[in-house]
Amino acid sequence: MSERVQINGRRLWQSLMVMAEIGATAKGGCRRLALGDEDKAARDLFRQWCQEAGCRVTVDEMGNMFARRAGRDNTRPPVGAGSHLDTQPHGGKFDGVFGVLAALEVVRTLNEAGIETAVPLEIVNWTNEEGARFAPGMLASGVFGGVFDLEYALSRVDLAGKGVGQELARIGYAGDVPCGDHAFTAFFEAHIEQGPILEREQKQVGVVTAVQGFRWYDVTITGQDAHAGSTPMNGRRDALLGTAQFIQAVNELALTYAPDGRGTVGQFQVSPNSRNTIPGRVDLTIDMRHPEAVVLTAMDGAVHDIGERIATEMDVAVGVELVSYSPPVVFDEGCITAVQTACQSLGIPYRRMISGAGHDACYISRISPTSMIFVPCAGGISHNEAESARPEDLAAGANVLLRAMLHYAG
Ligand code: GLV
Ligand code: MN
Ligand code: MN
Repeated sequence: MSERVQINGRRLWQSLMVMAEIGATAKGGCRRLALGDEDKAARDLFRQWCQEAGCRVTVDEMGNMFARRAGRDNTRPPVGAGSHLDTQPHGGKFDGVFGVLAALEVVRTLNEAGIETAVPLEIVNWTNEEGARFAPGMLASGVFGGVFDLEYALSRVDLAGKGVGQELARIGYAGDVPCGDHAFTAFFEAHIEQGPILEREQKQVGVVTAVQGFRWYDVTITGQDAHAGSTPMNGRRDALLGTAQFIQAVNELALTYAPDGRGTVGQFQVSPNSRNTIPGRVDLTIDMRHPEAVVLTAMDGAVHDIGERIATEMDVAVGVELVSYSPPVVFDEGCITAVQTACQSLGIPYRRMISGAGHDACYISRISPTSMIFVPCAGGISHNEAESARPEDLAAGANVLLRAMLHYAG
């Protein structure tokens, strides 16, 4: 009987669209920064939906939410699935949310079909995956997976100086369950691809075998505030001019490691930010990625060399601090096979692939067998309000998730 059961693609789509109303932007995207009021509203709705689906919802010290559907043997670790409800500042309707609501759709489908599993199931919403408000990303799945200390994670602050612990308490999601108190029999994260490959090759599902590694840095370039009119062009210590060269050099560094290297400066604050003062200080970020750890190590050395060169040439001080390192991840063979077998049995066109983006599944893979399921997104565009995916592809991904979960849940 469970061989024939199919998820309800229309219900999944409707749930995605209702969730997308929370933090909806004028351009059709979503802005639900981690632990903000919109994130709270999304969490409240998710909790309500899970309770209506008969799940028991618990919240841990990092605000991670777990919705448990009992099995026949509740002493066994659950088969988990989920992702994140927080978004980028100019985020879309699908990044993260699809993985959470696809898992909910699996539970709703099993309820409707009257299927009880041997092992309990658990839908998870991980806190602060994006890292847009609080760096680093994948923060709470990182604590759960033993990568970050709880105290370190709770003390992360946003640009306004507000802390993760403080904001969790404010929105009522500072739970009391110890973070990382259980493992999973298996864990699956369904997600949009966030790149162009599936669409280009007309594949409906990506069987994700690995995730490339990344390093995040905070960089401070310090020169000297001075008058824009009376200070001659030579002898200036312009931190923003140094930053311009730094950005250029990071781009060239990534191109040196083409086609897989990535280097992005996505954020900076200039001080004092006044049109007639030479900027004395800039704080900026670097996001640098590659699928191979040895290459990322070489790129790390090169970033420090760039800093030293610009410091000398521009007469500024350059401080480069590593904020987080997420090494390349290879997923569990058993979980990968479960996803691939599900695609084959459903007749879904698929390909095996490596993820370019980081995901909570990376850190969960440290403690439990894990893999991911990708579906195409239009034009490969993500971290963009225009992010878009087709209902039939999302439904295919959720059907694969259902089968992969049942494979482990019995
Ligand atoms: C997550 O969105 C990432 O930065 O890869
Ligand atoms: Mn995501
Ligand atoms: Mn994202």
